[in-house]
Amino acid sequence: MKLIIAANWKMNKTRAETEAFCREIKARQEDFHDTEVVICPPFTSLEAAGRSLSGSAIKLGAQNLFWEKAGAFTGEVAPPMLVDLGVQYVIIGHSERRHLLGEDDAAVHKKLKAALEHRLRPILCVGETREERERGETEVVVGTQLRRALEGLDPALIEELVVAYEPVWAIGTGIAATAADAHRAATLVREIAAECLGSAAVERLRVQYGGSVNAGNIGEFVALPSIDGALVGGASLAVDSFAALILSAQEAAR
Ligand code: PGA
Repeated sequence: MKLIIAANWKMNKTRAETEAFCREIKARQEDFHDTEVVICPPFTSLEAAGRSLSGSAIKLGAQNLFWEKAGAFTGEVAPPMLVDLGVQYVIIGHSERRHLLGEDDAAVHKKLKAALEHRLRPILCVGETREERERGETEVVVGTQLRRALEGLDPALIEELVVAYEPVWAIGTGIAATAADAHRAATLVREIAAECLGSAAVERLRVQYGGSVNAGNIGEFVALPSIDGALVGGASLAVDSFAALILSAQEAAR
């Protein structure tokens, strides 16, 4: 299976900055033969990114979506609008949306369902906070987030799902999880997904680790059989650091 490495730019980059990044990363794409690379710019840069990446194997992802197809939902973006822009992936339930913007498990579930119905591949984020970890609740928190997200979904739709285990305390802090912690969580994700959807449906499930991933530590994660790639924030903002990260991952996964 190819690695999957996604760049989560969060609220960064204008259209001009997006185009410059995408032109450069596209020029290096031949180095990334063992990796599915996904760029997730903000909504305002999706079109510019799509245009700059066209003709390349690099995929376009969004950072969020709304679950309705159209209507009176001021400020929201519908799945068909993303499909129209050539978007193939969508990050759902990122911890910044859960914790800063009040997105709950029910909203995450509706978004996941809507994405799958429109053939957008979800990158579903789950992960515990520092306090939850200190209370020994990691497994319960990750398990609950995942069960509520997947509950009642059609297993036939699920084969394009990616789950990103992103401990909240590791995001943007420079303190990544240990490989052992990531492995434990990724294994739990696979077990719960199998429980919710059946083991056949999750055979192709891809699990990423996210949280302070860089070129220096990515190797520890992708060397694990339970982890297929990474969701990358800070280290995805500059072409050089992102490309170096992809190359290290390929080296370690070989
Ligand atoms: P980080 O962010 O790599 O900057 O820690 C990861 C994420 O939020 O997806």
